[in-house]
Amino acid sequence: MAPFFVLDQVSYCYPGSSTTGVCQVNLELEPGTFLAVLGANGSGKSTLARLCCGLLKPTAGRVLVEGYSTANDDELKEIYRRVGLVFQHPDNQFVAGTVEREIAFGVENRTLSPAVIRRTVDEGLVRFGLEPRKNVSPHSLSGGEKRLLSLADIWVLKPKLILVDEPLAMLDPGAKKRITRLLADLRYSGQSMIWFTHGLLEALTADRVLVMAGGRVVWSGPPAGLLTMAEQARAWGITLPPATEAAYRLGLKATAVTNLDELVSVLWR
Ligand SMILES: Nc1ncnc2c1ncn2[C@@H]1O[C@H](COP(=O)(O)OP(=O)(O)OP(=O)(O)O)[C@@H](O)[C@H]1O
Ligand SMILES: [Mg+2]
Repeated sequence: MAPFFVLDQVSYCYPGSSTTGVCQVNLELEPGTFLAVLGANGSGKSTLARLCCGLLKPTAGRVLVEGYSTANDDELKEIYRRVGLVFQHPDNQFVAGTVEREIAFGVENRTLSPAVIRRTVDEGLVRFGLEPRKNVSPHSLSGGEKRLLSLADIWVLKPKLILVDEPLAMLDPGAKKRITRLLADLRYSGQSMIWFTHGLLEALTADRVLVMAGGRVVWSGPPAGLLTMAEQARAWGITLPPATEAAYRLGLKATAVTNLDELVSVLWR
């Protein structure tokens, strides 16, 4: 059987641009993996996300999903069924006039019976708390609601691999908590996921981390590995968990600290 998901020497240069978007990235994912891709602004995360789902085609190398290549137009339909991207900027994702139509849009493009479509859309509205907002325009939602809708759009399609690009950006703490919980539920149900971010806190439960700089993968390993190399991680534009950062500044054994409870217990010792 073909491997689940493969990036083989993938590069991408934007037309007319001298800067490299992504350069020679290799990756192989097993089903059920949670991968975090970390990097500073402009390091190539969103470009890689678009390459992974076929929205961009590599200028060199190959992206393969269960053997289908994003380079072949006649295989893109199979790729879109398997990989879904939750955009960094939700407004760029929305295509329909109301929240309900927006969730229905992708589902209706599948060959499903009207009853299954209705049930799936209702499940999406309820799970993401959007039922009360179903008749408004997606663009008139709050930032947190837009993020919920962008996730719902992809969740109802049940892709084998979900890509989430900076899903917590610009959200207040309550909305961050809610989205984090929804993503954690997905992850622990066995969903394969790639989370693109600059925050190590969001990546702590990942099976593996890739760090990008200047479009290249500059480090790969378990998330805890980055806690032991704080200076380098900061130089790559990665934000350490706030409690870890505080422990470093207090001169404590910071690698043992990733949250407030651990910080308090180290302080008491
Ligand atoms: N449409 C575009 N045309 C030309 N260059 C682009 C385009 N989009 C991105 N780039 C360039 O490609 C590089 C990678 O950008 P990308 O958006 O992938 O970074 P990122 O890691 O997602 O950044 P951020 O954290 O700000 O979202 C940057 O140098 C950027 O300027
Ligand atoms: Mg980005």
